[in-house]
Amino acid sequence: MTPPAARGPAKRAARPRATPPPLGDATALSAGVPLGKNGPWHPPLGLGLWSVGRWEPADEVRTRAAIGRAFERGLRWFDTAEVYGSGRSERLLGDALAAKPPAPPPFVVTKVSWEHLRPNQVRAALTGSLQRLGRRSVDLFLVHAPDPRVPIAETMPALEALWKEGRVGAIGVSNFGLAELEAAREALQEAPLAVNQIRYNLFDRDDATPIRDFCRRHGILLEAYTPLLRGLLAGRYLDGARAPPEVRRFTHRLLDDESLPGVLARARRIRDVAKEAGVPMAAVALHWLREQGAAPLFGASSPEQVDAIVDAFTGPPPSSEVLARADRIALGDPDA
Ligand SMILES: NC(=O)c1ccc[n+]([C@@H]2O[C@H](COP(=O)([O-])OP(=O)(O)OC[C@H]3O[C@@H](n4cnc5c(N)ncnc54)[C@H](OP(=O)(O)O)[C@@H]3O)[C@@H](O)[C@H]2O)c1
Repeated sequence: MTPPAARGPAKRAARPRATPPPLGDATALSAGVPLGKNGPWHPPLGLGLWSVGRWEPADEVRTRAAIGRAFERGLRWFDTAEVYGSGRSERLLGDALAAKPPAPPPFVVTKVSWEHLRPNQVRAALTGSLQRLGRRSVDLFLVHAPDPRVPIAETMPALEALWKEGRVGAIGVSNFGLAELEAAREALQEAPLAVNQIRYNLFDRDDATPIRDFCRRHGILLEAYTPLLRGLLAGRYLDGARAPPEVRRFTHRLLDDESLPGVLARARRIRDVAKEAGVPMAAVALHWLREQGAAPLFGASSPEQVDAIVDAFTGPPPSSEVLARADRIALGDPDA
């Protein structure tokens, strides 16, 4: 992963310092990047807590268990948002952090809703998020998605003010295209635009590639959500089981009736390539993203899924030949 470049020295109160992983700890989970020159350390693999919103209260038990297992396995990056479960996701994470503070300390990311992008709303949104999370600051604060009704030139200075106050360690955006990224950068005076979080995986990349290139050029870390294509790139649905409607809705066209047969055929070939190479299929999906310079942000609804994905990420990585083959197969090359 290419470390984001700094955009000049920032002057502000109580700037969180970049904390590199402890010396001697060479595990894959510690090998992150600093955000900006003196920003916080960004871990390489994250657990997202979006799905909390769709679960029944009974499912919270296994969600808590998944978060607990993530703590035990050394995952540090936890992603949530004020809109996830209307605050339930932040509350759940806050409770888990309070009950058993993980070591090393977590890297907590939350997002202000696209419905709250006026400056006073941004400030109020962060206050609400911090209350639910039980924290005085978060490591990274993102604009969840642009709102065409609110110029981003209004929103970003509000985030920058919170950064100057030390209430957020770094600032970024999510679901921003090229023109929106340009506008967001231009609206900042001192704080670097540290992150753009987008949907990005082996199959879902047409729109992501130019964004990836822009982010590389400007030292913006790309966080990749839906890295497993809702489990498909961890081997799920490959044997004919149909993804539930909700999953299909969130994977857009890829799992609809028209596209699914082609996607499954390519995914099965990637599974076979991974098997031949002796690595889990998820390892190919995650390390392919790392090769693009992106940090994968996965979801899990059980401790077993956390284990499987952490094992895939920290185990022997697939060779560059295997990743290149998977890349070509995903693009539809019949000879790969
Ligand atoms: N910024 C945004 O607009 C935005 C949008 C979407 C997501 N996100 C963030 O990104 C995170 C991850 O997104 P995502 O959930 O779409 O990512 P994903 O990693 O592609 O999908 C996660 C789902 O894959 C399945 N899965 C996980 N491990 C598995 C395994 N070992 N074997 C088989 N299936 C497995 C689980 O499905 P089941 O739960 O059904 O078992 C899990 O919920 C979210 O939680 C959220 O924090 C951000």
